[in-house]
Amino acid sequence: MSAFLDACRRKPSTHTPIWLMRQAGRYQASYQAIRSKVSFLELCKTPDLACQVTVDAVEQLGVDAAIIFADILLVLDPLGIDFDFEKGHGPKIYNPVRDAKAIDAMPETIDAEASLGYVMEAIRLVRRAIDVPLIGFSAAPFTLAAYAIEGGGSKSYYETKQLMYGDEGAWKVLMTKVADALALYLRAQVDAGAQALQLFDSWVGILSPADYERYVAPYTKRIFDALSDVDVPTLHFGTGNPELLVPMQEVGGDVIGVDWRIDLGDAWDRLGGPEETAVQGNLEPAMLLAPVDVMKAAADEVLKSAGGHPGHIFNLGHGIMPTATVDQVRALVDHVHEKTSR
Ligand code: CP3
Repeated sequence: MSAFLDACRRKPSTHTPIWLMRQAGRYQASYQAIRSKVSFLELCKTPDLACQVTVDAVEQLGVDAAIIFADILLVLDPLGIDFDFEKGHGPKIYNPVRDAKAIDAMPETIDAEASLGYVMEAIRLVRRAIDVPLIGFSAAPFTLAAYAIEGGGSKSYYETKQLMYGDEGAWKVLMTKVADALALYLRAQVDAGAQALQLFDSWVGILSPADYERYVAPYTKRIFDALSDVDVPTLHFGTGNPELLVPMQEVGGDVIGVDWRIDLGDAWDRLGGPEETAVQGNLEPAMLLAPVDVMKAAADEVLKSAGGHPGHIFNLGHGIMPTATVDQVRALVDHVHEKTSR
């Protein structure tokens, strides 16, 4: 077994496992070198390269888990939504879905192997290349739907909320189609060799708990229900609103991902403690930009909050930023390992 998989199952582990969201990315010279030759989408769609950047991150950092190099937006392709990544501007969706007509035109189902087979091939390659467990992932339905509606990132998400409140019938159709596609995609990742699955609900924190219950919970739950026979641990991550931790736990996930806006121990208490669930998190990501001793002290606080209980996976509260350095990230990983080896 591995420290990461043990912690997902709340079993005692040799040390507190650590991996980092966005551990493969622009802060690495090796990644920049590849990106100087191919676009981000080409990188995602070339299994050899996606495998290489996945493995590079593990080898450079010494982390306890790999996450397949891909993006939450790739699944928009089989859903008939066109997008690209524009330099310096993030994702751009060319035909955002904003009304019942566009939603009805989306396919009812997807063939994940046929449309996203390059992700599954990259998973197979990574499994042959390294021994640490490999995490597959997707967005959760709300975050993916919000991208599809807004056409990119947003601060206010007014388009999303306008559709959600304005045409609940269309919202239901959209969220159901998205959830069903994501469940098929996640299952295909497990069939290809993914040993854990993380759902990223990165933008869900803009909702109130009541709106989460009404407009999101049934659809994310649909995914967990569809995967109930799949024998890998699931991680359910959101950001922005600690009030959603318990509703998200009720929806599903063996591990609840916690961002930095709440003390990890408080979050774990709310979730029922180590008897109830495993947790992942939650160092303030900007600590990667702080002096190393300040970062290590902050990491110690996170470890103290977790109280050494089985079922803690160390991570950042959100992804690594492009301005971090490999040396600093490596110092964090080494520090967590040194502090917690048992
Ligand atoms: O964690 C990993 O190392 C695996 C790879 C991974 C990427 N995106 C690679 C990526 C994962 C898990 C994601 C998930 C993802 N993608 C999320 C959820 C996690 C989160 O951060 O909340 C979201 C919201 C996206 C959508 C997305 N993809 C955005 C907003 C952007 C642009 C952001 C930016 O910093 O430019 C991307 C592009 C992207 N995805 C990059 C990487 C390494 C940068 C692309 C580049 O090389 O230019």
